[in-house]
Amino acid sequence: MSEVEYVELARVETERGDLVLRERRGEDAPSALELRANGVFVMDTVEIGSERALASAALELVAEPRVVLVGGLGLGYTMHEVLADHRVERCVVVEIESALVDWMRDGTVPHGPGVMADGRVEVVVADVAVALTEARPSSYDLVLLDVDNGPGYLVHDANAALYRDPFLATARAAVRPGGALVVWSASASPDLQAALERVFGAVEAIAHQVRLQERDEHYWLYVARVER
Ligand SMILES: C[S@@+](CC[C@H](N)C(=O)[O-])C[C@H]1O[C@@H](n2cnc3c(N)ncnc32)[C@H](O)[C@@H]1O
Repeated sequence: MSEVEYVELARVETERGDLVLRERRGEDAPSALELRANGVFVMDTVEIGSERALASAALELVAEPRVVLVGGLGLGYTMHEVLADHRVERCVVVEIESALVDWMRDGTVPHGPGVMADGRVEVVVADVAVALTEARPSSYDLVLLDVDNGPGYLVHDANAALYRDPFLATARAAVRPGGALVVWSASASPDLQAALERVFGAVEAIAHQVRLQERDEHYWLYVARVER
């Protein structure tokens, strides 16, 4: 195996800990960007299929997904997939780290400016828990949540509440009848599934195969629909 080298591109200290963007370079692999928060790996630009699938699985459920909320900008892949759908008229992206929004806009993340320039994007710098609590009922056709690694392996302890009944009920109220909430998780979570079933009724768990450190693993999407 070749040596891996890391080059730090940007770093900021936030009230939630360090947020770091770095480039990973190795002889055997093309270079990749990595985002870390609070000392924990958040995502990279290599394994992005599940971030895209979060959007595509949701978009195929709804005939007219005009207004979509994406919780967690990250490196913009879920948002990009949403914007690739011409039925979408507005994409509200809620991101807690203002620095990350800046890095996407100013080209620190090289693919960022192109994605952020779409006129349908509205960026809200906030905790998604607050943004959805303040949302009017039935504001969104789809709510897509990928703000943490899932309930089993949190980057920020405060996000635990996002996977429990009270917040899920808040999110449900923001979804229009006929729409859906989809939640990304790095591991299977029977507790999350049960909470979603209590709040929404039926829930579909979709396993998304990923290749991580030369092993086949799964990320999970939990799809909860709001009946008409
Ligand atoms: C795994 S990344 C999202 C990846 C994204 N789906 C993509 O395609 O690039 C998680 C993002 O959620 C943000 N985040 C974490 N907690 C949050 C919260 N409570 N509200 C809003 N954003 C949050 C993080 O700063 C990070 O940008």
